[in-house]
Amino acid sequence: MNEEMITGSQLVREELESHWLPFTDNKTFKDDPRLVVKGEGMFLWNQHGDRLLDGCSGLFTCAAGHCREEITRAVSEQLQQLDYMTSFLRSHPRSFEAANKLTAILPEPINHVFFCNSGSEAVDTAIKIAQQYHACRGEGHRNIFVSRHRAYHGVNIGGTSLSGLAKNRQGFNGVMPGVVHMRSTWDEEQRFSIGQPLHRGRELADDLYHFVQTYGANNIAACFIEPVAGSTGCLVPPVGYLERIREICDEYGILLVMDEVITGFGRTGAPFAADAFGVNPDIVTLAKALTNGAQPMGAVAVRDEIYETVVDAYPDGVVELAHGYTYSAHPAACAAAIATLDIYEKESLFERAGEMSEYFLNSIFALQNLGTVTDIRGLGLFAGIDVEPEGAAGAKGNLLQKRLFDAGLHIKTTGDSVLIAPPLIVEKEQIDEMCEILKQELNRL
Ligand SMILES: Cc1ncc(COP(=O)(O)O)c(C=O)c1O
Repeated sequence: MNEEMITGSQLVREELESHWLPFTDNKTFKDDPRLVVKGEGMFLWNQHGDRLLDGCSGLFTCAAGHCREEITRAVSEQLQQLDYMTSFLRSHPRSFEAANKLTAILPEPINHVFFCNSGSEAVDTAIKIAQQYHACRGEGHRNIFVSRHRAYHGVNIGGTSLSGLAKNRQGFNGVMPGVVHMRSTWDEEQRFSIGQPLHRGRELADDLYHFVQTYGANNIAACFIEPVAGSTGCLVPPVGYLERIREICDEYGILLVMDEVITGFGRTGAPFAADAFGVNPDIVTLAKALTNGAQPMGAVAVRDEIYETVVDAYPDGVVELAHGYTYSAHPAACAAAIATLDIYEKESLFERAGEMSEYFLNSIFALQNLGTVTDIRGLGLFAGIDVEPEGAAGAKGNLLQKRLFDAGLHIKTTGDSVLIAPPLIVEKEQIDEMCEILKQELNRL
């Protein structure tokens, strides 16, 4: 790396105090900070100039690899021509172009997109769209939302309420009333299943049916599902699970919201997890790889009927959905999304992810006999490895992510699960290198 580009190594402890880092043990982090100062393709460089492999696409964001020139140029040109325009009662051409490009690859009949700035905002927007849709149909009494244990739907109020991760709820319980949680799809018997586990899919999905019986079908607004539970450790749903959830939603007028913030844009080896599993949602939430991480952007895409029901419920000249963000459809984010979707198409990256999946999963599953590993799961270019907890929950996972970083591999851990999700441009030799580092550090634990 060019010497001039190395910055950050000179920062002293006091200069690290002002920034309160999210989801971070701030005190220990600041004693020994890990900073990244440069990215290119599959690689990152830390403040000391050491090169790392990116095993987690940033944070599931940079699916086409880092610092793609096409995206940088598109954003720069956009900012020089039009830096900002609201989408309240105005907009700019790029917002429509981005929405059209996105709906072109989403499953039919999902043809309408509401833009926001993050996955958390997408989830809270989806909650409000679901409420509005039911209200417009005279079913405003539908005010129960169904989620799952171990679900992660971001950190805004709605998403925190839907969350099924104990740590993320501590101190924030009950922020939005009326949320009930189905069981997570993981159980002991599934350990070390590659792809979809075979058993209990319909039985686990029937948790939704039990809620229908308990609360009454007419009171449930929507069921939020991560098709593959992502942040909690890559929990792949058993065969038949999503199909049964879809059946129950159809039968009882419940909206199925698939949160594809992680699984969208090729992660599962198909454009969206909905395509991978052949089960279509009514609403899909997206973010992260939508702009390859180069600009903050989220999106909620809905079926025609949902958009039309809300829009047609109001007389001409009246705002239909009193919801939106100052930065909804920001021109720079739209430019980044358009350039990103062009790269995905031109380089057939979703297909590439599908083709590379077998090699990736076989390489990751080859780590299963290492002493500390208690489970591995995976689908597409996404895998989760659990390590035996020791001491406080998550302490070992945290130690492991630090050691992996120092050994040259950037990954995310949640609790004691390691998440591996390389950019879709990953080569076989890079998978080998990642697995070598993983093996070395798992053995050291
Ligand atoms: C499934 C899912 N939904 C929502 C979010 C929240 O996205 P953001 O961090 O962009 O707010 C995430 C983030 O990881 C996610 O994995």
